[in-house]
Amino acid sequence: MRQVTVTEHLLVHQKESPMATGRFTRLLNELILAAKIISREVNKAGLVNALGATGDVNVQGEQVQRLDEFANKVLIHRMERAGILCAMVSEENADVIPIPSQFAIGDYILVFDPLDGSSNIDVNVSIGTIFSIYRRRSGGGDPCVEDVLQRGTEQVAAGYFLYGSSTMLVYTTGRGVHGFTLDPSVGEFLLSHPDIEIPRMGKVYSVNEAYWPHWDEQTRAVVTALKDPDNAFGGASLRYIGSLVADFHRTLFYGGMFLYPKDYRNPKKPKGKLRLLCEAAPLAMVVEQAGGMATDGVRRILDIEPEELHDRVPLFIGSKRNVVLAQQILDQGT
Ligand code: AHG
Ligand code: MN
Ligand code: MN
Ligand code: MN
Repeated sequence: MRQVTVTEHLLVHQKESPMATGRFTRLLNELILAAKIISREVNKAGLVNALGATGDVNVQGEQVQRLDEFANKVLIHRMERAGILCAMVSEENADVIPIPSQFAIGDYILVFDPLDGSSNIDVNVSIGTIFSIYRRRSGGGDPCVEDVLQRGTEQVAAGYFLYGSSTMLVYTTGRGVHGFTLDPSVGEFLLSHPDIEIPRMGKVYSVNEAYWPHWDEQTRAVVTALKDPDNAFGGASLRYIGSLVADFHRTLFYGGMFLYPKDYRNPKKPKGKLRLLCEAAPLAMVVEQAGGMATDGVRRILDIEPEELHDRVPLFIGSKRNVVLAQQILDQGT
């Protein structure tokens, strides 16, 4: 069977879309190369002393794992040389990452979570890289934080690499969602899941239910409804991996809902844990393009204006019917 590589797919889409340019295709190609390098390292991590923590704590207050640091370095090193970006934002860096002046400067901004699912690295459970691409707002000069603080609706593209039992790329440029699987024997991502559509409703819910004591009554009411076989959610199953990217990927294909609600009794997590720019917004773009929905319980994720680079946000994401039902229950408390 003739198999379409991601590069071919990008070129075809480039022809179809007046917005897409050769530079944009180049950006995605560079990103793909960085992800292949990360995938290779993840695959042999147990053999090359790449596991464990570095001893550092990042801007999020989390222990940095060696693979977090490796993935972050690979992405920054490759992408700053690509000549296409004017700035980057990473979960692991407190500030906007400028492009050094010796490299060509472009119009795009890349936001990423270099390695998602840090707590699963050492035990060989699926992890991933989440990315999001914006165009800069202002003209020339050094991009400032305001250039980067854009709503999710402004994303030009978004997606993720999943380092699972196979390595996959799932992305959207606003014209549907497409999935590619890395064939390690040829080193290419091949189109394996064209035009992905999330089921309108699903039976699986995904949440860290150990946080029940920290939730408000409305959040508890949503999870109670998820368990109730007589409710419209309908006798759901629970699956929770603890890597957002993997929990999201399953939700995209099987339907249902992932939620990381606010944690109002925990002063460290008044808005939950997940980051608006590098986690929630890109997955919200993917899910909407696949026919699903993402909210913070009140607002559409893509409409939220970020105030700071590392803003956190509660997240309800998945099949439209499930997210609407959750929203209705949450609304009853307001
Ligand atoms: P990261 O590893 O990029 O810091 O993200 C971790 C996130 C996300 O992957 C996952 O959904 C969540 O942490 C799990 O958090 P809990 O351990 O609080 O359930
Ligand atoms: Mn982290
Ligand atoms: Mn993450
Ligand atoms: Mn991370």
